[in-house]
Order: sequence, then structure tokens, then C-alpha cells
Amino acid sequence: MSQEKWTSVDAYFNDLLMPPNKHLEAALTASDAADLVPHAVAQNQGKLLMLLAQMQGARTVLEIGTLGGYSTIWLASGMPKDGRIVTLEVDSSYAEVARTNVKNAGFAEQVEVRVGPATESLNALIEAEHPPFDLIFIDADKPNNPIYFAGALKLSRPGTIIIADNVVRDGEVVNAASDDLRVQGVQKFTEMVAAEPRVHATALQTVGEKGYDGFMLIRVID
Ligand code: SAH
Ligand code: DHB
Ligand code: MG
Repeated sequence: MSQEKWTSVDAYFNDLLMPPNKHLEAALTASDAADLVPHAVAQNQGKLLMLLAQMQGARTVLEIGTLGGYSTIWLASGMPKDGRIVTLEVDSSYAEVARTNVKNAGFAEQVEVRVGPATESLNALIEAEHPPFDLIFIDADKPNNPIYFAGALKLSRPGTIIIADNVVRDGEVVNAASDDLRVQGVQKFTEMVAAEPRVHATALQTVGEKGYDGFMLIRVID
């Protein structure tokens, strides 16, 4: 199996299941034009985020790692009009691109982009006793995943769902000797989830236009 085939299968389903959405396409075009790294979730993964937000009945979402706001717009599309997303981004120029993309998509009211290292923004939310979020998407710098998971748990309630992107990394996650700090971050995060009695979790491998990776789906138990 090859990248070419994975990409064509994504295209097959996307063409049938996802009518072109000019706001989402514009967000990607603007992100490219502003030289953002091409790390947004794939279209079908974005739609999965939208569907999960809908299934969860999410009214409040915390996103860690905004980039150009592509996943943010998908999440907002799965929430009610009075829903609210707090999304954390370390790079102020990325955050500005995201704010514009989110505004052009019609979600300026719902979305707040907070600039700064996510560890600090998370601490600020915890300090301020922010009410628990319904859904949390972890998709920033992978070495910090263990800290993000600990923070996410503090900002959760029974029933909160936590999704973590990029947990497979071309299968490198099984390389116990990896010296890649991103892989080590995912491994430590996975061990933390495994040892955490307050959650149920699974992990799925994915292939597609964005290559071979995967995500973890976690639910804080009742
Ligand atoms: N969720 C986005 C992709 C995020 S890419 C989407 O699917 O559309 C990861 C993002 O995390 C990048 O924008 C990067 O700048 C940001 N990031 C990296 N380190 C960070 C940190 N310490 N705190 C907050 N954001 C960080
Ligand atoms: C990387 C980060 C991501 O969130 C992603 O979806 C793909 C790649 C990275 O840091 O390499
Ligand atoms: Mg990602």
C-alpha cells in the first residue's frame, strides 16, 4: 500500500461525503499563503472532529494547538450557535491568521484564541477555575503531551472527551529506543493515560492524504 493509494481513497470519500466548503478551503489557502506549517488535520479528520462535537453535544471546547484555525472551524461547525471554543497557540502570527480565518467562517463570536505557551495558558484556565470543557482536542507540541493531558483532566468533568492527534507518527510510537522527543512525549502520554483510573481510552491508526498516523480517544468516566 502506498501514499498515492491512501490519498486517492481519501479523495474518493471526501468527494462524495464532504461537499466543498469555501470557508474551510479559504482557511487552508490563507494558512499556506501565510507560510504556516502544513500540519492541519486532514479534511476527513476535521469532519470526524465535527461529528464528535455533535455526538458529545459539546457546548464548550478547549483546543491545544490552533495553527490557522482549520480544526477550530470544523469543531465550531459541530457546536450550537452559543457554543464556545478556547484555543491555545504559542505563535502570535499564527494566532492572527487563525482569528481571521475563524472570523471569515462566521465563528468569531464563539472562538477565543489565547496566545502563549499552552502550559501557561492551561495553568491560567485552571487557576481561574474555568468550568470543565465538554471536549478537549490536544494537537500542539508533542513533547508536552503529558503536561497537556494532566491539565486537560483538571479541566474535565465525568463525560468529557479528550482527543489527542498524532499518536502513531509513522509507527515510531512502538520504538522504545526513539530519541525523538515528540515520540517520547506520545509514549509518556500513553503510559499516563493507561495508568489513569479516571478514563477509558482507545487509539486508532489512520492512513490517508496526511500519511500514516493516528489519534487517541479518551472519555473521562462517570
Ligand atoms: N489543530 C491544528 C493544527 C495544530 S499544529 C489543525 O488541525 O488545524 C500544532 C500547533 O501547535 C502549531 O500552530 C504550533 O505553533 C502550536 N504549538 C507548538 N508548541 C506550542 C506550545 N508550547 N503552546 C501552544 N501552542 C504550541
Ligand atoms: C506535526 C504536528 C501535527 O499536529 C500534525 O498533525 C502533523 C505533524 C509535527 O509536529 O510534525
Ligand atoms: Mg496534529
